This record gives sequence, structure tokens and C-alpha cells, in this order.
Amino acid sequence: MPDFTDTFARRTRLRGGEELATILAGNAPGVLSMTGGFPNPATFPTAELDELTARLVREDAAVAMQYTPVAGLDRVREYLADRQEQLQGRRPQRAELIVTSGGMECLALMCQALIDPGDAIVVEAPSYLGALMAFAGAEAELVPIAMDDDGLRVDMLAERLEAGLRPKFVYTIPEYQNPTGRTLPLERRRHLVDLCRRHEVLIFEDVAYRELSFDGASLPTLWSLAPDLVLQAGTFSKSFFPGVRLGWAAGPAAVVAELTAAKQTTDQCAGGLGQRLVEEYGRSGGFERHLPAARALYASHWAALSGALKLHMPQEAAWTEPTGGFLTWLTLPEELDAVAMRPAALAAGVAYVPGPPFHVGGGGRNTIRLSFSHLTENELETAVERLAGVVREHPYDKLLQESRGGR
Ligand SMILES: Cc1ncc(COP(=O)(O)O)c(C=O)c1O
Repeated sequence: MPDFTDTFARRTRLRGGEELATILAGNAPGVLSMTGGFPNPATFPTAELDELTARLVREDAAVAMQYTPVAGLDRVREYLADRQEQLQGRRPQRAELIVTSGGMECLALMCQALIDPGDAIVVEAPSYLGALMAFAGAEAELVPIAMDDDGLRVDMLAERLEAGLRPKFVYTIPEYQNPTGRTLPLERRRHLVDLCRRHEVLIFEDVAYRELSFDGASLPTLWSLAPDLVLQAGTFSKSFFPGVRLGWAAGPAAVVAELTAAKQTTDQCAGGLGQRLVEEYGRSGGFERHLPAARALYASHWAALSGALKLHMPQEAAWTEPTGGFLTWLTLPEELDAVAMRPAALAAGVAYVPGPPFHVGGGGRNTIRLSFSHLTENELETAVERLAGVVREHPYDKLLQESRGGR
């Protein structure tokens, strides 16, 4: 068998990605998985899509089944511009918005268009694993900035920028952040925008979960506050369905032009059928019909998970309180190691993602990301009971006694 090891590019060794492969591979039967940020299939509007897809194939095959322009179909870009205006209070110009194949493609395009090896990118600590992998694969120098309960510590970023740090961009997920579930308050949004304007640093805003607030409320996006300074990546994966593989990039025309050029060497265009589905579904008021039920489902899943955590977790554990999205971030006592604990958790029938892959260079071994999107409410309760059992069995009680005894 030929060995192609030496054939692979150097950057293939920079990617990591074991954790992501584990998430995507799924789990053994009987294991309750709180790993992936997958939308709940109960939210997929299958009946409407059944009819709509059939109609598009029947009546619009020449467009929906054909290649589209690189930036997306004009009519779809029109629709997305209308939608930005409706949901974010500002309408992008034609040159300020393109259609992408999901949010992940926008991350790849940003790397291709902006990052040379060694360029600095500021990321939240912790941040979205897919983004960290894309940035590492582009050989960027990642600069993590700490978060607190209100998201990115903009004051700490200010110190770094004032000390001379010049990143290519600051990557942030302002609402229901992956992995922590935290949201950046309005004051901090304004501060971040002012700071980056002063230092002429581009902000890369990822709004993947924005439309899934539990109560339907939302804060102004960074892009709406500073459209000349912010490149926004959006996706229909969480609010519609990931199989449609559709998203958008909205931002300064010069940046969008470079993303469009880069897209010519990736997929050349997002799928026409998905573009037309989003447009037709959206124009017919589909999102207004569909999203309230999706929000209510995730809110009630969070209520179930939160109740179970309060009931079963040891007092020393803490977790974030998301107001939307799919995720919460659990912090265990310092002595606990969520990576080492994982086999015991799997044996007990519960899966989670431990903290280190979300941190640049590791760290956060006593932290865990829990997704509440997918399991039923009863399953979430059982999963937490199992997890709490593993946490209690772990050297935790002993370590705690030791540390108390030592004091
Ligand atoms: C914060 C964030 N950005 C982007 C993505 C990727 O989205 P898409 O499925 O549209 O590529 C995800 C998916 O999990 C995400 O959590």
C-alpha cells in the first residue's frame, strides 16, 4: 500500500480536529450526547419544504438546479438585503453582501482573503472550535482574550491594542456564544466598535445563533453599529436547517469583494436550490411562522437542563445562563479534569465536549461544553444525573476533602 504521508501539506499537521471528528462521528447506542451544536430536527419545517422543493424543481429548474453567480443569485441577495434591513435595521448596498455556503465557508474565505502565515487574529477565550481550526490551518497567530459572564473582556483587548497588538481582525460571537452561551451587552458592543475604530482593526462578527433568543428579543449587531468596520458571517444552519448549507457575508465592500474573489477558488457558488429555498420560504413569511416554535423548544430544553443541573450537580460546580442558542458552559472545581473523566462518562452513558479544544493551546481542563439542543427534556435530565454521578465519583470528593483537611 503506498504511503502518502510525505505528500500531505505542512498545514495538515496544524489542524488538530480530533475533537470535531468525535463530535461528528456520533456516539455509541445508549449514550446520551450533549456534544454537537446540532439543531433539533423537530424544528425542521419538513411539510412546507416538501411542497416548496417540489415546486422549485417543477417550475424553476433552470435557475434552482443551475450554477449561480459567485456572489449568489441577484434575487436572493435582494431578499437577504431586505432581511438585514428588517432584522438589523440597516440595508447593505449591493456590493456589501454575498451568499455563502454556510457560516463555515465565510470563515474559510476570511482566512483565504486576509491571512498570511504569522498574521495575528484575536479570538475569545474560549471560542468556536471550527473557527480555531480554520485560523490555525491558515497558519495565523491566535491571540486569545479572556471572557467574563458578559462575553469578551473588551477592556483587556483595549490594553493589548494600546500596547501595540495589530491583529488582522477580532473574531467574536456576540450572542449565545459557542462554546459558552454568553452574550455581549450593548455597552460592550459600543465599546468594542469604538475601540476597533480607533485602532482601525476589522471586527469579524459571527451571528450563527442570533435569531434563536429564547424570548425573541435581540441586541443591535456589531455590523449594524459599524457597517464600515465589521464583516458579519451569518448562517441558516441553526435557524432553518444545516442541510441547506447557506449563509451570508455582509460588510465593507472592499472586504466583500475579496471574499467573492476567494470564493471563485472554493465552491464558485452556493447551491442554487438552497438559495431559492431560503428566498421563497423567507418571502412567504416562513421564518416568522417557524422561529417562535423553535425558540420555545430551545427555551424549554434549557429550562429542563438548568433545572437538572441545579438538582444534581455538586454545589461547587457553576454554569453559564444562556438567553438563547444551544449551549451552556460548565465549570467544575479546579482539581477536576474533564478530559480524563470522559471515558468514565461514556461508560455511564453520557457524552460532552471537554474545554481544552476550545482554548488556544489547551487549558480549561475543568470545563465542559453542554449542548441542550438535541436531547429531549427527559433525556437531558437523565444525562445530567449521569454526569453528576461521574463528577461525584471522580477524585473530586476526595480532593475536596484533602484540600479542606489541608486548610
Ligand atoms: C459559532 C458558529 N459559527 C459558525 C458555525 C458554522 O455554521 P455552518 O453550519 O453554517 O457552516 C457554527 C456551527 O456550529 C457555529 O457554532
